[in-house]
Amino acid sequence: MEDDRLLRPDLEDLSEERLETSLRPRFLNEYIGQSKVKNNMKIYIEAAKKRKEPLDHVLLYGPPGLGKTTLANIISNEMNSNIKVTSGPAIEKAGDLAALLTNLQEFDVLFIDEIHRLNKNVEEILYPALEDFTLDIIIGKGPTAKSIRIDLPKFTLIGATTKAGSLSTPLRDRFGIVDRLELYNIAELAFIIKRSAKILNIEIDDESANEIARRSRGTPRIANRLLKRVRDYAAVLSDGNINLKVAKTALNRLEIDEMGLDEIDRKLLDVMITKYAGRPVGIDALATTIGEEVDTLEDVYEPYLIQIGFISRTVRGRIPLPPAYEHLGYEKL
Ligand code: ADE
Repeated sequence: MEDDRLLRPDLEDLSEERLETSLRPRFLNEYIGQSKVKNNMKIYIEAAKKRKEPLDHVLLYGPPGLGKTTLANIISNEMNSNIKVTSGPAIEKAGDLAALLTNLQEFDVLFIDEIHRLNKNVEEILYPALEDFTLDIIIGKGPTAKSIRIDLPKFTLIGATTKAGSLSTPLRDRFGIVDRLELYNIAELAFIIKRSAKILNIEIDDESANEIARRSRGTPRIANRLLKRVRDYAAVLSDGNINLKVAKTALNRLEIDEMGLDEIDRKLLDVMITKYAGRPVGIDALATTIGEEVDTLEDVYEPYLIQIGFISRTVRGRIPLPPAYEHLGYEKL
C-alpha cells in the first residue's frame, strides 16, 4: 500500500485535513446522504430555535469518516452559534473540562470527538453540567474540603464516537438526541465525489465518479482522498481530466480492488476462510493472526465487510459468507 492513510479513515494527515475542510458542507442542505439523521435534525434545530433554547445534547456514532465532525459544525452553523472542538483523550483532568465549560457562551456547541475515551473523573464533572448546566467543584482536601457550585451558560454538547457500546450508561442517557451514521451507498458517494470535483476544479464523468464511489467503502472521507489520488494520476498520465480508464488505472495501482477492499481486508477474509476454515472466530484471535489492532478491525474493517455481506457476526464469532469466498476465488462452502 502506497499510502496507509488512504484506506484508514481513522488516521489523520494535515494536508488531507485541510483539503477535507474545504470540501465539507457547511449547512444541512449541502449535506448529502444520512437522510434520516438530517431530517430529524432539521426538526430539532427548528424547534429549538423557535423556543429560543439551545439544541438538546447530541450523540453521533458510527464508523470513522462518515461526517460526524462535519455534522457537528453544520449544527452549530444552523443554530448560528460558535463551536469549540476537543476530544476525549485531550481532556486529561477534571480541571481541563471545567476550564472549557466555564469559557463557553450561551448556546455554544461543545464538540467532543472520541467521547468514549473520556476518563472517569472528567466524565463525572460532565453529568451535572449536561443536566442542570452547573459545575460542582471541590476545593481543598479532607474534612475542610468545600464544594462550590458554578452556573454555566446553556450550551449543547455534541459527542462523537465510533463505539457507542463503550459509553457508560449514565453518560449515554444524558444525550437527548442519539443518532447513528450509516455507511453511504454508491449513488450518494458518487454525488459527493462530483460535488468535491467541482469545488476542486476537476473534470470528471459520471462513470468515473461511480467507479471511485464503488471503491470508497461507503465512506466520504475515503471517496475524497481517492478522488485526489486519481486526479494526480490523471494529471500525469493524461490531460488532467478524469475518465474511466485513468480512474481504473489509478485505483488498481493503489491496490484497491473492485469492491474497495485493500490488502488487510483480503488478508482478513483469507485467514477466516483458510486458517479457520470458515468456522466462527473471535475478533481477538483474528487481530492476533493478522497483526492488527482489535479496535481497527472493529471500527474500520468490519462495518464495511458486514455491509457488503462478506462476513457475519454470530454469537460464537465472525464467519465468512459465500460472496467472500467468491470474491477471493475460493470454491464455496
Ligand atoms: N463531504 C464529505 N461528506 C459529505 C456529505 N455527507 N455531503 C456532502 N459533502 C460531503
